[in-house]
Amino acid sequence: MFTTRVTEKLGTEHPIVQGGMMWVGRAELVSAISNAGGLGILTALTQPTPDDLRREIDRCRTMTDKPFGVNLTLLPSMNAPDYPAYRKAIIESGISIVETAGHRPQEHVEDFKAHGITVIHKCVSVRHALSAERMGVDIISIDGFECAGHPGEDDVSGLVLIPAAADKVKVPMLASGGIGDARGFVAALALGAEGINMGTRFCATQEAPIHPRIKQLIVESDERATHLIFRRFKNTGRVCRTPVSDKVVQISAHPDAVFADIQPLVAGAKGRQALETGDIEAGLVWTGQVQGLIHDVPTCRELIDTIIGDAARIVGQRLDGFLGAAPRSAAA
Ligand SMILES: Cc1cc2nc3c(=O)[nH]c(=O)nc-3n(C[C@H](O)[C@H](O)[C@H](O)COP(=O)(O)O)c2cc1C
Repeated sequence: MFTTRVTEKLGTEHPIVQGGMMWVGRAELVSAISNAGGLGILTALTQPTPDDLRREIDRCRTMTDKPFGVNLTLLPSMNAPDYPAYRKAIIESGISIVETAGHRPQEHVEDFKAHGITVIHKCVSVRHALSAERMGVDIISIDGFECAGHPGEDDVSGLVLIPAAADKVKVPMLASGGIGDARGFVAALALGAEGINMGTRFCATQEAPIHPRIKQLIVESDERATHLIFRRFKNTGRVCRTPVSDKVVQISAHPDAVFADIQPLVAGAKGRQALETGDIEAGLVWTGQVQGLIHDVPTCRELIDTIIGDAARIVGQRLDGFLGAAPRSAAA
């Protein structure tokens, strides 16, 4: 129903994409989103080894015959994962769409492009969008300050960031961050994007491979219940407000705080434990402000069908109605 350059490039029915999500972007969620006409994206680093990623790709293929992608998140990490081996696994598995995110994507983008792969690069600023465009990416996914994960250090929310990027970026764009329903979808198109990318909203779906208590936490948390962490380490992250993130913020506020002081609380393995056991005291839970708009846990198909159906009504009735209602003075 909404045909854009994004649906054309991705070969999907709808311009709705699920961004890579550590521990969540597994075959169950990814195939459900792709089967519902969106683009699901497996998260490469959720798999412990490149061979596990190959197996996860194969598993996903048994669950959908629709297009799906793989996310490769490039972290500024001291013990960096074996990125070239993950990249090779993606290419050799015949994946046709990749989402890159993070630092210094150039060598990865070049290799993916050389193998004919459609590359979505996710970033958080206009300057990074333009440099990714120069590298030859096909689609820019741009995350406003509202987003879960890493919103960067510029603090520009989507209402300004997306049109600012649209003024300069020529390839099609996905608006990301703070989108959870048809209102956000239509707004994104109005701001100059040609589709949306969502993270938090897809965590609160039936198929998301996380504990029901975490889905309930998202439903119960409002738009104020997130924390920004790692600000002083210039690697800002937006997470759900929980006892663990409260403690991280409290420790980080100390003038002499160093990363080692919070490290035991923020370890990725602890976050995984929280997601899988539902114990919010176990580790961080990553969510964005959009949780304030999430009130249910639908299937991915129900969610996507609702967004598209409501969006058509917003455009065809609500907005069109405004256009028709000429002010009396203008009619006179
Ligand atoms: C639980 C969770 C884990 C995430 N992990 C990653 C990741 O590993 N790599 C990445 O590029 N983005 C990651 N993100 C960000 C999402 O891909 C997406 O850009 C973001 O959630 C969009 O904002 P929204 O949550 O407001 O929709 C994660 C988001 C969530 C909610």
